[in-house]
Parts: sequence; C-alpha cells; structure tokens
Amino acid sequence: MIRELYINNFKSLLNFRVELSKFVCIIGMNGTGKSTLLQAIDFITQIFKGDLKTWLQAREWQSQDLLSDRASPSHKIFEVKLQFESTRYACYGEFNLNKLTCTKEKIINETSGDILFEVVNRSYRIGNHARKSIEFKYQGSALSALFSRSHALAWECSRDAPASRSSSLKERRDENSYLTSTLVRRKCEKTRKSVYF
Ligand SMILES: Nc1ncnc2c1ncn2[C@@H]1O[C@H](COP(=O)(O)OP(=O)(O)O)[C@@H](O)[C@H]1O
Ligand SMILES: [Mg+2]
Repeated sequence: MIRELYINNFKSLLNFRVELSKFVCIIGMNGTGKSTLLQAIDFITQIFKGDLKTWLQAREWQSQDLLSDRASPSHKIFEVKLQFESTRYACYGEFNLNKLTCTKEKIINETSGDILFEVVNRSYRIGNHARKSIEFKYQGSALSALFSRSHALAWECSRDAPASRSSSLKERRDENSYLTSTLVRRKCEKTRKSVYF
C-alpha cells in the first residue's frame, strides 16, 4: 500500500505531501488539484514502467507541461513511501525533464535501514552488490530497464549455459533474484495498468 506521497514542482503541486490510507476520497472545488494528484500518482507509476515519451504523447503533453509554472528548476523530486505487511519502504527520486530519466534514485527498507537500490552519477547499486555504471538507455527509473534486462537474464539463465559463462551468469542470476524479491517488483506488477486522468 502507498502510505505517503511527496511530489515537488509537478504542475500545481509544490512541495506537496499527502498521507494515504486504504480508502481515499478526494473532494474539492474545480481547479483545486484533484486530477493533478491522480496524474502525479500515474506519473510516478510510469516512472517505474519507463517509456515516459509514449506516456506524454498519449496525453499530448510536452515534458515541460509537467513542471509547475510557479517554479523553474529543470528537475522534479518525487518521494513515495510504501508499506507491505510490517515492512515499510521509501523510494526517492529526482526526475530530469529534459532527459526524461531519474538522475538520482534511492529505495530504502525503512524497517532495517538497508539501501535496496541506488542510482547516482550514472551508476547503480543493488543491495550489497558492486556498483555498476549505467551503460544502457532508459527513461524514468533505471529499474524499468533493469527489470526488462533481468527478465531476459532469467530466461537466459534457465537455458543450458556453457561452463565458461556459468559463474558470471550465476552472479547475474543472484542479482536478478535479489531484485525480483524486493518490493519493487511487487509494485511494478501492481501498477502495469494504464489509466489516463
Ligand atoms: N503547470 C502548471 N503549473 C501550475 N499550476 C497548474 C499547471 N497546470 C495546471 N495548473 C493548475 O492546476 C489547477 C488544478 O487543476 P486540476 O487538477 O485539473 O483540478 P481539479 O481536478 O480539482 O478540477 C488548475 O487551477 C490549473 O490552473
Ligand atoms: Mg479534475
């Protein structure tokens, strides 16, 4: 469940934070930001799916339309807190409008304090695995690309691999299973549906 949402510089949402519960009813006069809040949730969902370009095109929006006309920075910051059973997770990110990518990302298990995923300076780190430079193209979160890569790897690992490749494949499979066992996959699976507001 998404427990808390923070978004800054997204249309009319400036430094906006809301706590969410299992049932949320949004009530307000016209123009007070009801649709914008749903758009913000949809935007964050799309960040984890990738392909922000298609998402913008489907709405006939330019990336600059997402930016608040009351603020001028070229990036926006989102922060999402999730709760699954007893464990709480926090995702933080900075989204660059020109590149359509998150240039900074962090996912933390708030219960244990462990950093599950981090992106900084064009490199990423998954759990305790070694930091790797990002040499692939992606939009939104780097996770969107890593998931499609990890699904491909899972398929690759399931085939009979030559002995010379097995150790690196094992390493990659470990990384893959680490990733896929975290909340991130659960979140992405739950958010595959597209809804336009
Ligand atoms: N880029 C933007 N920057 C700042 N305000 C914006 C931006 N785009 C739209 N708005 C304003 O956001 C407000 C909220 O609109 P909306 O979410 O459609 O309200 P509601 O759904 O509650 O009727 C409107 O008053 C609109 O002028
Ligand atoms: Mg509306």
